[in-house]
Amino acid sequence: MNLVFLGPPGSGKGTQAKRLAEKLSLPHISVGDLLRIEVQQGTVTGKNIKAIMEAGNLVPDEVTIELTRNRIIQPDCAKGFILDGFPRNVVQAEALDAMLEKENIILSKVVYFDIAKDQIVSRLSGRRSCRKCGAVYHIKFNPPKNEGICDKDGGELYQRADDEENSIRTRFDVYNNQTQVLIERYKKVKKLVTVDAGKEINQVYADLLLAIKYGN
Ligand code: AP5
Repeated sequence: MNLVFLGPPGSGKGTQAKRLAEKLSLPHISVGDLLRIEVQQGTVTGKNIKAIMEAGNLVPDEVTIELTRNRIIQPDCAKGFILDGFPRNVVQAEALDAMLEKENIILSKVVYFDIAKDQIVSRLSGRRSCRKCGAVYHIKFNPPKNEGICDKDGGELYQRADDEENSIRTRFDVYNNQTQVLIERYKKVKKLVTVDAGKEINQVYADLLLAIKYGN
């Protein structure tokens, strides 16, 4: 099963992708995570994209297209993958079509996480992520057992630099101006399934399983 998760920032794509990836034993490819690794490691790419990401803008297409292409051809993707946060504009969608065709990979479904704007701000401002394993929490909706500490590995929880008010606004505008158009594109080719992402985490997960026709 080859899935793409599409939706505004904070709609819960990453939270649901991690859970589904574990259930289906598929790799979760978060392009945002791949980019953050570049930044953390201080690579040339990382240095070039740090400020762009912190401001909430899209990094250049050639960077994300290359990262995605290199990742989906890895052996662990042979039986499927969950691609989270790519494509985010028409150029990337066309690049994805081309790379899938070249590798003889058929896109199973594009899951659209539909959520109202007012829920996004409270979700992102309360998000905390583990520095070690990347697990995602929310101080109110999905808190860790001990404040500031990851349940899984005891890693320190931190707040992402782009979860600050101005960046959230920019990310939402970028989504509206560049990404939202992809909903129609995938609807036309009958790949799109929609999940109401405004519900509680377990309910969204149950709906997600139904949407991709995979029972509990
Ligand atoms: P990325 O890391 O992909 O960020 P994003 O798309 O903005 O998505 P988020 O990670 O913010 O949200 P999410 O939908 O995964 O929600 P989550 O599950 O964490 O990208 C970051 C940046 O990288 C971009 O701005 C850009 O600069 C760059 N980038 C990435 N991909 C790119 C591309 N293709 N092209 C160019 N640039 C790119 O949940 C959010 C919070 O809500 C958490 O606290 C969670 O616990 C909580 N939560 C989740 N679900 C629920 C629920 N149902 N109820 C209550 N709380 C919930």
